[in-house]
Amino acid sequence: VPLQPYNSFGIAARAHTLVRVRSAQDVHELLADHRLARQPLFVLGGGSNIVLTGDVKPVVLKMEIKGRRLLEETDKAWIVEAGAGEPWHDTVDWTLTQGWPGLENLALIPGTVGAAPVQNIGAYGVELQDRFHSLVAIDLATGQPFTLDAAQCAFGYRDSVFKHAAPLAEQEGAGLPGHWGRGMGLAGRAVITHVRFLLRKDWAPELGYLDLERKRIEAGVARPTARQIFDWVCEIRRAKLPDPAVIGNAGSFFKNPTVSPEQCQDIIARDPKIVHYPMADGSIKLAAGWLIDACGWKGKSVGKAGVYDKQALVLVNRGTPDDSVTGGEVMTLARAIQTSVYERFGIRLEPEPVVL
Ligand code: EPU
Repeated sequence: VPLQPYNSFGIAARAHTLVRVRSAQDVHELLADHRLARQPLFVLGGGSNIVLTGDVKPVVLKMEIKGRRLLEETDKAWIVEAGAGEPWHDTVDWTLTQGWPGLENLALIPGTVGAAPVQNIGAYGVELQDRFHSLVAIDLATGQPFTLDAAQCAFGYRDSVFKHAAPLAEQEGAGLPGHWGRGMGLAGRAVITHVRFLLRKDWAPELGYLDLERKRIEAGVARPTARQIFDWVCEIRRAKLPDPAVIGNAGSFFKNPTVSPEQCQDIIARDPKIVHYPMADGSIKLAAGWLIDACGWKGKSVGKAGVYDKQALVLVNRGTPDDSVTGGEVMTLARAIQTSVYERFGIRLEPEPVVL
């Protein structure tokens, strides 16, 4: 099965087997099928955060579970549930149309609802974990559905329990969530079927991000509506980030690194213009895009892998559908960037997408 239409980088690779999952029942049927259930599985959402470096041998579960509904309304909040296969951006748009604000800063992020908690998507001052209620998943070892709250998802910056594999010893013991515990990962062990959002009625606009505050001043409004913020976020993203439908990419290719205040002072002494933000825990977050840009990579290419000319943190496919970039070329460029950032700043950049 060709995977080129199913990964936003537009890399030409194939899956040996691809199973479309449209309901929880489909997962149960798959697990009951002994030929399939014994093989390693790979869960694919919108494919907007993966780099395929070759054909995919695990059985690909393409998540297509649909449906959106108001699960519960209290005097404080709306709890909204969406199927893992719903497109993320359309879901954000839909909540706002329903009159439930809260997800507007996360507009235009590519991908599906089910993938959102995996990497705790975030943009313009809001992370998924700030609007998360719970999720429903199915344990791939037992076929049992289970629910996780935010604490159990162990959200971090572009991180969650779903990005970590279980320690080998623990993988032996099947059964979740009984065996689920601190330090254990769920990567490859569970599939998310539904995500629930908690959208508070005492909503307030989140304008902490400089680009958004600029938009507010330009528009001359004191307190924008959620819909206005949604529109501004779309404008900002369209100006800076390539549309994957036009230029293949997987969003930010590296995480923004954190350093100690001492390390940061060292770098500032050499590069006074470095973009840095103090974090609540005392560490300093650096803009990886700035570091890459400072090393002269913006707009450069290695083979058909390129560095986007308006945002150096985004690697792009400069090939065509018939002659696309390969995952190998992307990783060669990524390593060259890591080397130059390390040599100049002493900082190791960590890839953000899942490399398969
Ligand atoms: N910068 C440069 N040169 C560049 C790129 C950036 O100097 O080529 C500087 C900018 O001037 C800015 C700073 O770096 O001062 C930060 O850039 P930007 O505002 O574009 O945000 P980012 O830190 O590069 C992060 C997220 C994005 C998210 C935006 C907005 C990560 C890895 N990336 O990017 O998320 O949309 O903030 O909140 O945290 C993604 O994860 O795929 C993603 C796109």
